[in-house]
Amino acid sequence: KKVVLAYSGGLDTSAIIPWLKETYNNCEIVAFCADVGQGAEELVGLEEKALASGASECHIVDLKEEFVADYIYPTIATGAVYEGTYLLGTSMARPIIAKAQVEVARKVGADAVCHGCTGKGNDQIRFESCFAALAPELTVIAPWREWDMESREDLLDYLAERNIPTTASATKIYSRDANAWHISHEGGELEDPWNEPSKGVWTLTVDPVDAPNEPEYVSLKVEQGRVVAVNDEALSPYQVVMKLNEIAAAHGVGRIDITENRTVGMKSRGCYETPGGTVIVAALRAIEELVLDKTSRIWREKLGQEMAHLVYDGRWFTPLCKSLLASSEALAADANGEVVVKLYKGQAVAVQKRSPNSLYSEEFATFGEDQVYDQKHAEGFIRLYSLASRIRALNSK
Ligand code: ARG
Ligand code: SIN
Repeated sequence: KKVVLAYSGGLDTSAIIPWLKETYNNCEIVAFCADVGQGAEELVGLEEKALASGASECHIVDLKEEFVADYIYPTIATGAVYEGTYLLGTSMARPIIAKAQVEVARKVGADAVCHGCTGKGNDQIRFESCFAALAPELTVIAPWREWDMESREDLLDYLAERNIPTTASATKIYSRDANAWHISHEGGELEDPWNEPSKGVWTLTVDPVDAPNEPEYVSLKVEQGRVVAVNDEALSPYQVVMKLNEIAAAHGVGRIDITENRTVGMKSRGCYETPGGTVIVAALRAIEELVLDKTSRIWREKLGQEMAHLVYDGRWFTPLCKSLLASSEALAADANGEVVVKLYKGQAVAVQKRSPNSLYSEEFATFGEDQVYDQKHAEGFIRLYSLASRIRALNSK
């Protein structure tokens, strides 16, 4: 047996390596790590660590550009925001990680894939739904649902008994997940929604209270629902996100604190930091205001709702996803233009917007005479528009 393990170098996945060998007949373990922009600190020394823990190989795959270009931008263009606030940072990363893991499994001839998600969360559903769609022949191993270890102490003891070195400590307050788009924080005092997150929760953004007293303006160029330049500098998709993260984080932009519904049915409390993403979303909404007519906008709102649940619930590799993305792409054809976003103490507001596809016309909106609109036509329109109301009222006399 040969297993490809989604490996992060953390305590959980370090313990998984010896556990797999003992539980599955001394199987060979190939460590796999997706670089989705979680930061260099998480990747340095990863291969040495994996091999020291007993893996036979370690594959680190750079997915940063593909993640932003093919997963984040298409999702965000649909308007997807989970339960009104969550910009889906962790959810969007799962399908691309699962896909790359399957590719490694095929390359090394593995017959199983393994992940370190708990049996209570969303991530197990996302990974395994993607595995099912892409490689139904692979066996899935989810140690947290099998072993009887429950705490970090248990894992540390397990490694110590086997003389496997680890730098992990017994106390780690928060469960975090980072990538180019965001970082999530769960656990610790956050488990009680009555507790305000302490200062130590946030790692990416400045506290809005400590943010500069002067606003900063940042300009974004948008082409077909994608940001292609920041402050007139043309950038790749990943570079755009990194650049905006840096600028917006300094102003405390992009913090949210929510109690969300997990797919498994329980509620959980999480804090998220999505600085650049928050600016991108503000800019896209501003362009859409100019270019989408009323019925297109209604459709875009429905699309966003559908897509948010689809991504959150791990249904990326489905015909429904393809069809929502195709629809969104059609709407995004007109999402072109330029937006200036003002960043100030945690807020990101689109204060200037223009588009070559804008349907807004000062000339048409004005009350003066114009070419396209005769006020007399409104009378007949309203008469028919409200006909049902008139008939109902007459009948009830
Ligand atoms: N609740 C968020 C989501 O489901 C974040 C999950 C964080 N995952 C993690 N393994 N720490 O998308
Ligand atoms: C986990 O349970 O592994 C993290 C939380 C989640 O997936 O929702």
